[in-house]
Parts: sequence; C-alpha cells; structure tokens
Amino acid sequence: MAKQILVTGGTGYIGSHTVVELQEKGFDVVIVDNLSNSKIEVLDNIEKITGIRPAFEKFDLSERELTDAFFQKYPNIDAIIHFAAFKAVGESVQKPLEYYRNNMGSLMNLLECMNKYKVPHMVFSSSCTVYGQPDVLPVTEETPRKEAESPYGNTKAICEDIMRDYCASNESVNCIALRYFNPIGAHPSALIGELPVGVPNNLVPFITQTAAGLREELSIFGDDYDTEDGTAIRDYINVVDLAKAHVVAIDRMLSGKSKANYEYFNVGTGSGYSVMQLVKAFIEVNKVELNYKIVDRRAGDIEKIWADTTYGNNELGWKAEKTLEETLASAWAWEKNVRGLK
Ligand code: UFG
Repeated sequence: MAKQILVTGGTGYIGSHTVVELQEKGFDVVIVDNLSNSKIEVLDNIEKITGIRPAFEKFDLSERELTDAFFQKYPNIDAIIHFAAFKAVGESVQKPLEYYRNNMGSLMNLLECMNKYKVPHMVFSSSCTVYGQPDVLPVTEETPRKEAESPYGNTKAICEDIMRDYCASNESVNCIALRYFNPIGAHPSALIGELPVGVPNNLVPFITQTAAGLREELSIFGDDYDTEDGTAIRDYINVVDLAKAHVVAIDRMLSGKSKANYEYFNVGTGSGYSVMQLVKAFIEVNKVELNYKIVDRRAGDIEKIWADTTYGNNELGWKAEKTLEETLASAWAWEKNVRGLK
C-alpha cells in the first residue's frame, strides 16, 4: 500500500510543490492547512498537475484537540512534512508571541502526536537564517548557529532544539530539519507558485509583480555591502528542487538510512548571486522591463550567505539541478499566469 504522508502547510508555496512531487512518486498525501496564507484553489491546481486531489483538512495545528482528532481520523499516517508556520520576518518583530505560540506550539503538538499515534518520521522546514551572518563562507552543517536576527528566525532555531532534545529522549521519533536557503521560482506547469498576500517581502515576488505592473518600482536594499557589485548575496534554490529534497528526506527515513534520529541538512545550490545579478538575469531571461532603484539597506539583512551542499549531496544523494535562468523564467511564467498576461 502507498505510504501516507501528512503535509502541513500543503497549500502554501513550498508545501504545494512538495505535494506534487510526493504524489508523482506514488505517495498518498493528506494536507492540513488553516489557509491563513494560502488559497483552497491550490488543491484544484495540484489536481490538474498530478491528476490526484489530495485529502484536505482545514484547522490550526497549534490547537491540540484538533490535532489529536486529526490523527484519530487518519490512523495510518507514515510520516509528516511540517511546513505550516508563520514566516514574515518583519511581522514577527511586531507580534513575537503569535510567532512563538504558533510556530513552536504546532511543532510540539505534532511531536506529542507522533509519540501517541505512532507516527515515526518528520521532516521540518528550517532555514539558513539559523546561521546569521557566518564568519566563513560557504556554510556547512558544521558552521555554528548564531543569535537569531528576528523572532521568526528564533522560532526556527528553537524548533530545531526542540526536535533535537525530543529525539534524544525518544528513540522511536525521527526528525530531519532541512535548512532552506532562498526558495524561488514555480512549477514548470505555471499552475502553482508563490502567491504572497499584500506587498511581497521577498525579492523575486516583488520583481515579478513589478514586471507585471502591480508595483511601480523595485527597491534594491543597499549597494554598499562588501560584495563585488555592493548588493547582498544569497543562494537561490528552485522550489521544485527544494520540494524533491523533501521526498528524498522522507525516503531516507522510511528506508531506515538515517544516521541518527535527529539530522539536519543545508538545502541550497552552493552558488551565491547578488541582488543586482539576479535582477539583471531576470530582465535578460524574460526580456521584460523592470524599474528599480537603490535605497538604504533593510534592517536585519545579512550581507552574504550561500551553502556548502557537499554533506547533503553525499548523504541524501540529492542535488539542485535547475539553472538560475530557468528558475527565473518559471517565476515569470507563474506571475503571468496568475495575472492573465500573455
Ligand atoms: N531585497 C531587495 N528588495 C526587495 C526584497 C528583497 O533588495 O524588495 C533583497 C534583500 O535585501 C536581500 C535579498 O533581496 O538581500 C533577498 O531577500 P528576501 O527577502 O527574498 O530573502 P531573505 O534572504 O531576506 O530571507 C531569507 C529567508 C527567510 C529568513 C531570512 C533571514 O527567506 O526565511 O532569510 O534573513 F528569515
């Protein structure tokens, strides 16, 4: 029988792409999402891509009774991929308690339910934000974590610690944290992608919305960093490549290949691009105009980070495959599809 995977936050950006990859590998997917930052129509588009409509339950995983009721209704879950969380850095500074309660509460509820309902495996969405501004680049999994720059970033570090400590206390629970670098792009079908509510915080949605005429101008935050062109450097990973890393992590746990019951991996490409390089590549690949201006640095931004992916590549047998160009083309194809542009 097909293995059944609970994907929390499965109608969100990375979640929806992961659901597609899981279904295409023959997994039976159940989504839980409270739709606080995504739309139910995503299910239609997942179905258009894979031909399978995933089971869907709408509730908030920080509510313990509802989480219990879910596992009673679905007694055959084999593994969990836990995406559901608040993720806006700026908002987390304004509403820290909401971020701590939601992000840590839902993780702890799931861990308790894993023990109670005998669900042995979980993949958790972590972030390269746990490294802060590293002293040495690129960052390996051995690179020390640094003090978080925001309550949001702190929830990722604390959630990692919660998993580490719980796994140490309970041999029957296995967790893998994936530390994402900067996920961008969309599914090649242009049927699913990133759909931020309101003004986008992240670079690529802001670029695509500006190119589509929804925003007047992109602000590039700072050109006085210690980088070749003065703009900040990140490791941009295609969201489909990232989704595939989750399937590989699930396979690793289900086939008993984990080396410990708590593991963590960098998930990036291994290459850094500056904001200016990315903007220029977007214009060139998509043959569009894009208004931009240089403004002051954004508070809390780090100067540069990119991943050393050697450990993950070797251990997981996974590697990011898509080029930056095809990823930026996919982001634009998605935006055009959403806006009904040719
Ligand atoms: N940027 C701009 N203009 C914009 C938006 C972003 O110049 O309108 C720049 C940022 O200053 C940064 C780069 O583009 O240099 C990437 O910014 P994003 O907001 O897309 O991504 P971040 O690297 O800031 O965010 C990532 C993760 C978060 C994490 C954060 C911690 O997406 O989950 O790092 O710093 F919390």
